Amino acid sequence: MALASLADGCVPSTFSPVVFGAEILSVSVSLVTNYSLDIPDGLMLTAPSPKVRDAKFCNVTVTYTHPGYGDNINVETWLPIDNWNGRLQSLGGGGWVAGRFELSYLGVAGAMFTGYAASTTDAGLGYASDPDLWALTSPGNVNWYLLEDFTSRSLNDQAIIAKSLVESFYGRPPSYSYWNGCSQGGRQGLMLAQRYPNAYNGISAGAPGIYWTNTMLNSFWPEHVMRTMKEYPNGCELDAITAAAVSKCDGLDGVVDGIVQNVDECREHFNPFDLVDTTIDCGNTTAKITTAAAQVANATWTGITSSTGENLWPGLTISADLTCHLPRSAGQVCLATTDCTNGTCTVDHPTPFGWRWLSLFVAKDPNFNSSNITNDELVALLKASRSQYSSIDTSDPDLSEFKKAGGKIVSYHGLADNIIPPKSTEKYYEAVSNTVENVEDFFRLFETPGLGHCFGGLGQPDSLFGQLQAWVEEGIAPDSSPISFNNSNGETQHRIICPWPQKAQYNSSCGNSAKAECWSCVESSAKTEVRREGL
Ligand SMILES: *[C@@H]1O[C@H](CO)[C@@H](O)[C@H](O)[C@H]1NC(C)=O
Ligand SMILES: *[C@@H]1O[C@H](CO)[C@@H](O)[C@H](O)[C@H]1NC(C)=O
Ligand SMILES: *[C@@H]1O[C@H](CO)[C@@H](O)[C@H](O)[C@H]1NC(C)=O
Ligand SMILES: *[C@@H]1O[C@H](CO)[C@@H](O)[C@H](O)[C@H]1NC(C)=O
Ligand SMILES: *[C@@H]1O[C@H](CO)[C@@H](O)[C@H](O)[C@H]1NC(C)=O
Ligand SMILES: *[C@@H]1O[C@H](CO)[C@@H](O)[C@H](O)[C@H]1NC(C)=O
Ligand SMILES: *[C@@H]1O[C@H](CO)[C@@H](O)[C@H](O)[C@H]1NC(C)=O
Ligand SMILES: *[C@@H]1O[C@H](CO)[C@@H](O)[C@H](O)[C@H]1NC(C)=O
Ligand SMILES: *[C@@H]1O[C@H](CO)[C@@H](O)[C@H](O)[C@H]1NC(C)=O
Repeated sequence: MALASLADGCVPSTFSPVVFGAEILSVSVSLVTNYSLDIPDGLMLTAPSPKVRDAKFCNVTVTYTHPGYGDNINVETWLPIDNWNGRLQSLGGGGWVAGRFELSYLGVAGAMFTGYAASTTDAGLGYASDPDLWALTSPGNVNWYLLEDFTSRSLNDQAIIAKSLVESFYGRPPSYSYWNGCSQGGRQGLMLAQRYPNAYNGISAGAPGIYWTNTMLNSFWPEHVMRTMKEYPNGCELDAITAAAVSKCDGLDGVVDGIVQNVDECREHFNPFDLVDTTIDCGNTTAKITTAAAQVANATWTGITSSTGENLWPGLTISADLTCHLPRSAGQVCLATTDCTNGTCTVDHPTPFGWRWLSLFVAKDPNFNSSNITNDELVALLKASRSQYSSIDTSDPDLSEFKKAGGKIVSYHGLADNIIPPKSTEKYYEAVSNTVENVEDFFRLFETPGLGHCFGGLGQPDSLFGQLQAWVEEGIAPDSSPISFNNSNGETQHRIICPWPQKAQYNSSCGNSAKAECWSCVESSAKTEVRREGL
């Protein structure tokens, strides 16, 4: 088809997607020209952020229902007119949203501008960032149809629809199809690999919200700890504890650059209780670090724990922002944020995750009061969550069909993630390794020191998407990936991230620690040259 006629094809009659089990309700089509958008750094997740200028695309929104489900789902796909690169890229959602929200649209725009047909779905949830609007059909009754649409089914529909639109518009199906998402979007990516192994050739799944039934409750744990102690530490105390941990452990990887790679080693050596009574700056005044603050930090790093001391899910790393006061967490949510505006600190719900999951899905009661539950009750709710929702946990380690289909996955997880523990992704990676042979042949996990939740922080792994593509299309597996960031002196630092369980090792005779060439990937069991001053 000649390029000139592509825009002419941007009309409803061009498209007629068919999805088994779905009834197409409408196809809305419009030609968009001179489209411009600035995409902030990091928000393409695993690719560089372009400045979208004067773009021209065919905007196709397919609305459909699964007859009997009473749902109404929109898949929106942007088909570039002038520069299609032959590929499809679908963008994931975030938080409680499946897609078609601000972050997905940034991704869709960036992908379209760089040549991909780009797609996003709302899974039938509309634009709601609060599941209160759809979770229950009535008090006591979960909307299982929408929960299924959200957690799995709409994802495969989206792949089928988007591929069909591409074929109708350009006259051939995409030569390769990719998923790109983080957090909810990372979970969606791994759900696709688990349940719909033929949907995508390559999946980029960052900080995935997998083990959903645990992850949700675990995010409530710091709030719960504060409520049971009835003590709500000032954020400046928690920030001081985090800063002390980062400063003590920064050099463990051989280079003092403001980020901590060896987070587990740091946890073994750093005791937040040693800081109790230390005087710190706290806005316009000074304060002392309280025992309660040390307890909240310690508990957040440990993760949900029963009253008999059994640790039931891993916690965040010691370099995670607990309060979202750090610049890297701008616009994000953190697990232990308190409000001290009136002098006395209080807590609302630091995140929209744990307590919403508890009330709407586990208790199934929008009025369920999570603020005074006991530890034993919380553990019982965790068990109920696991037992009732295993089908949406997104923790199936059997990716053999995906591997057989030739699919490849790159995952990344910030070692300063403020919401989802990196240990969760390690656990999944290990489970897949124990289930499918030679996992590194199709699935690699890159832990990224200094990075917060998905984006923000020091060192966005923005080469990974290109490397995923090279892996899928040319068989070149990513053995490492470069990251760069500016340290507190404004000097640009380069290092590499490695496929877990390998770690980046610094060659101290290399000279300039800011150069990527001074780093190599080594087995993490190998003895690393580390500076242990102060430990
Ligand atoms: C595109 O939009 C920009 C800014 O909105 C405007 O300055 C420019 O003239 C437009 N270009 C065309 C070809 O319409
Ligand atoms: C694309 O189409 C959808 C559905 O009609 C609409 O909501 C959206 O605003 C359009 N996007 C652009 C950039 O025109
Ligand atoms: C510090 O004092 C300034 C000036 O009085 C005020 O505007 C600011 O809000 C105060 N900051 C904090 C954290 O209390
Ligand atoms: C701090 O966490 C560690 C590791 O989980 C745990 O063993 C210890 O009991 C905790 N300390 C306090 C005082 O809670
Ligand atoms: C602080 O005080 C104001 C005015 O009394 C009140 O509206 C607000 O809710 C209080 N905030 C908190 C967190 O208690
Ligand atoms: C929840 O329970 C606590 C403790 O009993 C109480 O202080 C609070 O007002 C309750 N919240 C709601 C929304 O009912
Ligand atoms: C929490 O508060 C609710 C009502 O506010 C009450 O029914 C419930 O018994 C309380 N639970 C505990 C453990 O105190
Ligand atoms: C580092 O600082 C330079 C100069 O200020 C700036 O151009 C660059 O974008 C910064 N790099 C990163 C990764 O923030
Ligand atoms: C470390 O760097 C030195 C100097 O550049 C080089 O000779 C040596 O081979 C490197 N060692 C390793 C293990 O890469």
